[in-house]
Amino acid sequence: MTDYLLRSFDWNDPSLVNLYDEVPLWSAPFGLLLLDRLRLRPNLSVLDLGCGPGFPLIELAQRLGASCRAFGVDPWGAALARARQRITRLQVRHVHLIQGDGLALPLPAASIDLIVSNLGLNNFSSPADALVEAARVARPGARIALTTNLRGHMAEFYAVFEQVLRDLGQPEMVERLREHVNHRATALGTQRLLEMAGFRVRRIDEQAVILRYLNGTAMLNHTFIQMAFMEAWREVLPEALHHEVFAALEARLNQVAERQGELALTVPMAFIEGERRA
Ligand SMILES: C[S@@+](CC[C@H](N)C(=O)[O-])C[C@H]1O[C@@H](n2cnc3c(N)ncnc32)[C@H](O)[C@@H]1O
Repeated sequence: MTDYLLRSFDWNDPSLVNLYDEVPLWSAPFGLLLLDRLRLRPNLSVLDLGCGPGFPLIELAQRLGASCRAFGVDPWGAALARARQRITRLQVRHVHLIQGDGLALPLPAASIDLIVSNLGLNNFSSPADALVEAARVARPGARIALTTNLRGHMAEFYAVFEQVLRDLGQPEMVERLREHVNHRATALGTQRLLEMAGFRVRRIDEQAVILRYLNGTAMLNHTFIQMAFMEAWREVLPEALHHEVFAALEARLNQVAERQGELALTVPMAFIEGERRA
């Protein structure tokens, strides 16, 4: 029972150091909001939809302790390999990984007490269908807790992007950019999807974090910006316009940063919790 008294850690063991930076910073504020709001109870069957490399799955499983059984689902094999490495190294035996699609869960009906998804469902091809599937595996009274970024995401950046397109005489591209901006979730839209799938929404908390960069050059060269957002921004434009538009955009963002002392981008986020109707 007190095995924790016997464990020691070698801070120079690469396999431990590898785990130290365990959460993408992008996910952290959303995950902290989720972990802050969740009701913790014993003996829960927990499901993390879109667990990626293991966050918040492993953290939540550890906070709940070994009376819980936690499942993480994601189709992303490389991320699950990382999660598996972490689970093995940390010896968290009550976490189980499932490589698969959240829209077709290999779990029995009415078997889960708590479903979480940190920046997960809003990235699925069909959040509505994923919620119907989540409702199938949820026990009556089960909780579902989601975090998502919201429409209004990086509004300062998109305002400059739009102005640049207008100045370059590209009104069609402005429309395409607006479509891209509007694809993001709203708290009300997510509430509707939850209600349609069979959950009663009990709580919605909205907050915002500010991503701060020295300037547009720093922001556009940031690895996570490139990994997570750049492809979608490129897709707004025909390839022939990429260089002209992004050069102008970078210059304009740098002017904004020069005036304001930094480039500050607002990321609105929501914690949305529902309960499976009986
Ligand atoms: C933005 S990442 C979030 C990962 C993690 N929850 C975090 O907080 O860092 C979105 C995750 O959803 C996963 N995903 C996308 N479509 C999915 C689906 N149909 N079923 C399950 N997971 C999916 C992606 O592979 C990715 O790991």
